[in-house]
Amino acid sequence: MSWIVQENGFDRRRITANGNKFMIGNGYMGYRGTLEEFGRAELTAVTLAGLYDRAGDQWREPINAPNGMFTQIYCRGELLSLLASEGEPLEHIQELDIRHAVHRRRTVYRMPGSADGGQVTVSMERFCSAKRLHLLAGRVSVQCSEDCELLIRTGIDGDVWDINGPHLAGLAGADAEGSLLLTGRTQELQVPVAVAEAWAWASAGETIAGGWRAIEAAVGAAGEMPAEMNELPLPWKTETKVGADFVFREIRLRCKAGETYTFHKFTAVFTGLDEGGDAGEAALKYSREAAALGYEALLKEHAESWERKWERSDVVIHGDGEAQAALRYSLYQLHIISPGHSEKLSIPARGLSGQVYKGAVFWDTEMFMLPFYLHTQPEIARNLLMYRVHTLDGARRKAAEYGYEGAFYAWESQETGDDACTLFNVNDVFTGRPMRTYFRDKQVHISADVAYGIWQYYLFTGDGSLLLEGGAEVAWECARFYYSYAYFNPGKQRYEILDVTGPDEYHERVHNNAFTNAMVKKCLSIALEAMAYLQEKQPWQYEALLSGSTVKPEQLREMHDRLYVPQPAADSRLIEQFDRYYMLEDLPLAELQSRMLNPHEYLGGGNGLATTTQILKQADVVLLLHLFSEGYDRDTKRANWEYYEPRTEHGSSLSSCIYALVAADIGIPDWAYPYFMRTATIDLTGDSKQYVGDLYIGGTHPAANGGAWMAAVLGFAGLRFDGGTVRFRPSLPGEWQGVEFPLCLRNQSFRIQVAPSKVTVQAHADNVRGLQFQWGEQIGFAGPGETVSFTCESTSLS
Ligand code: BGC
Repeated sequence: MSWIVQENGFDRRRITANGNKFMIGNGYMGYRGTLEEFGRAELTAVTLAGLYDRAGDQWREPINAPNGMFTQIYCRGELLSLLASEGEPLEHIQELDIRHAVHRRRTVYRMPGSADGGQVTVSMERFCSAKRLHLLAGRVSVQCSEDCELLIRTGIDGDVWDINGPHLAGLAGADAEGSLLLTGRTQELQVPVAVAEAWAWASAGETIAGGWRAIEAAVGAAGEMPAEMNELPLPWKTETKVGADFVFREIRLRCKAGETYTFHKFTAVFTGLDEGGDAGEAALKYSREAAALGYEALLKEHAESWERKWERSDVVIHGDGEAQAALRYSLYQLHIISPGHSEKLSIPARGLSGQVYKGAVFWDTEMFMLPFYLHTQPEIARNLLMYRVHTLDGARRKAAEYGYEGAFYAWESQETGDDACTLFNVNDVFTGRPMRTYFRDKQVHISADVAYGIWQYYLFTGDGSLLLEGGAEVAWECARFYYSYAYFNPGKQRYEILDVTGPDEYHERVHNNAFTNAMVKKCLSIALEAMAYLQEKQPWQYEALLSGSTVKPEQLREMHDRLYVPQPAADSRLIEQFDRYYMLEDLPLAELQSRMLNPHEYLGGGNGLATTTQILKQADVVLLLHLFSEGYDRDTKRANWEYYEPRTEHGSSLSSCIYALVAADIGIPDWAYPYFMRTATIDLTGDSKQYVGDLYIGGTHPAANGGAWMAAVLGFAGLRFDGGTVRFRPSLPGEWQGVEFPLCLRNQSFRIQVAPSKVTVQAHADNVRGLQFQWGEQIGFAGPGETVSFTCESTSLS
C-alpha cells in the first residue's frame, strides 16, 4: 500500500491541497492533481520549468501552459461534475500510483434523468511521461447503466490558474487535420508556447464496445468520420470548437447500457525555449508520434523509467509502514521535479506545483534537496549546480548593484540569476500596506550555500569537471563578495559579518549570525581549494581569474583565519544565534502566539511580534550544528537543541528536518521521530502555512521532501561521507527494525542495510573502485562485488 496514495470521497475544501498531493510531473512540467473537468478556479495548472514571464508590472513568475488534459462529460445534456452536480457523487476515488507516477480517478455519478437509479461511471488515468518530456498522456473511460447520449468535451483549455497573469497573449486555437492546437506567446519576452492534442479511441485489446472496432477501422483511429457515415445510425461523431482561449473536440456518443467506451489523449507541450523549431509544429508532431505508438506502449516505457528511478533511490524502512509511505511519497515529489534533462534548470521552492514564490530557486536546493541527489543521482546534482554556473552573471550584477565585488546570488533566482525577490515581499495584514523585508538585501549566506553545494559535488563524485567548467569561478566570486562585504574590526583584530539575515527570517539585519559566519568561513576555504585545483588543471583560467581581481588568495586566507565565528559558551555550551540575541525578550512560543491578532500576520519585519523576542522562525544554530557536525561535541549539540527547539516556531518547512537530523545525531531518535514525520508528511496532509499576510504560499515543499530523505539516511541510518570514508552512526527509531537503501558515491554503487546492531554494505559487482566504510572504530573496505558487515562487536569481510 505504500505505493498508492488515495482519497475516497469528494471534499471541496481539499481541492487545493489535493492539487499538490496528487501532482504528476517530469522535471519539464508539473501537472497539478486537479480533476479533468476543473479550471482556473480550482487552480488547474501545467507549470513549466524555467520559462518565466512578467505581465504588466506584476511579479515575474513561471508560465502555466494551457491544460491539454481538459475533459468534461455531459449526460443527457447535463454536465457531470463534482462541482456542478447536486449532492454527493455515488462514489469518488482519486489516487496516485507513486511507483509508476500514474494518476487515476474514478467517479460514479447519478445518471441525469434516470428513473431507476441509473449511473454513469467515469474512469480517467494520466501520466506525465518520464521518457518523453513534452508528453502528457491520458485514458478516459465511460460506462452508463442505461442507454443514453453523452457529450464529451475534451481538448485544450487556456483558462488555467495564474497568480500574476495573464501570461499568454494572442491565444489561438486550431483544428490541425484532426489534432488540436492552441498557441500563444508570453507577454514579456514573446516566447511561443504551444499545446497540441492527438486523440484516439482505444485500440484493440482494450475494453471497448463490440461494434466499435469495425467503425474505428473504417474511419481511422483519430479521424473524423467520413461524411457518408454521418447518415448512418452510428454511435458517435466529433466536431471541433474553437474559442478565445480553448480548442475542444466535442464527441457525441450514443451509449449502450453496460458498454465501456474508452479513448486516449496524447498531449504535447512545447515552447520557444525548446529545440525543434516552431513550437506549434513540434507539439503537433510530438503528439501524433505518441498517438502512433499507442497509450499502452507509452505507459510501459514510462513505468520502466520509474522503476529505474526507484532502483537508484528507494529507501526501505522495516517495521514502520507509516514512515515508509511518507518517505516514499517525499521521494516521489523530488523525482517529479528533478531537472534530469537540463543544466539550465534548478528546482523552485514550490517545485512545479504552481507559481507560488515566483517559481524561484532559493537556498532550499543546495542545502535541503541536493544531498538526496548527491547520494543517489549525481548527474542531477550536477545539473542543479550548473544552473548556478549559468546564472553567475546575474549574481555578479546583484553584487555590483549593492556596491560589492564578486557574486551575490539571488535570494529568489529565476532563469537569468537576477533577483526576483522584491524589497516589499509581504503585505501587512492590518493595513494592507507593503512591508519592507530584507530577504533580498541581507540573506547573504546564499552565496556560501551555492559554493558549499559545488564543493559537495566535487567531494561526493570526485568529478572535477564542474569546478573546471565554472564551479571554481563561482566559489571564487562568492568568496570575493564576502571579502568586500566583511568588516574588519580593528579593536578585536578580526573580520566580522555585520548586518545580515540568517536562516531565521524573523530577525533581520543582525550582526555575526553564527550560521552565516561559519558558512562564509567555509566558502573562503572552498574558494581557496577550488582555485588551487584550477591552478593545477587549467592554469590559464586561474591566471585569468586572478588578473581580473583586486583580491588575492592570500587575502582570502587571512580573512578565513581571522573571521569570527561565534563559539559555544564555556559553561552552557550555547551558541548565541547572533550578537545580543540573548537580550531579546524570552518567552514561550504559545505566549507569542496568544498575542497574535490575525492568524496570517507576519511575525518578522519591522513590527513583527517575533522581532523583539527570541522566537525564531526556523532552525538556525541547529542547522549550523548539522552542517558542521564533526566540529561540535554531543553535549554542545544537545544543549543547543534543547535551548532553541522550544523557541522555534517551525514557521518554515525547512525547519523540522534539521531538528530531526540533530536529534538523531546526538543519539535520541525518539526526539527526532516527530520532526521526521512532520517533514515527510507535509505534502500528504497539506498541513503547512498557506498564507503570510495576504500572500498565498501553498504548494509542494521539495526542501521538506529532501529533508525527509536526509533525516532517514543521514539522521537515523547515520551515514556521513566526507569524500574519503563513509561513516555510520545509526540511531534508529524504536519501531524500525532496519533501513535499506542504494548509494552512489564516487561513481560507485552500493546497497546499504542498517539494522540496530548491524550495518551491511554491498558493493555492486560492476564497480571499478572500492570505498572505505567505518562504524565507530571498525573500518572496512568494500571492493567491487564485496560485502562488508559491521556489527556492534566486530567487522567481517566476505
Ligand atoms: C524560509 C526560507 C526559504 C523560503 C522558501 C521561507 O519561508 O524562511 O528559508 O528559503 O521560505 O522555501
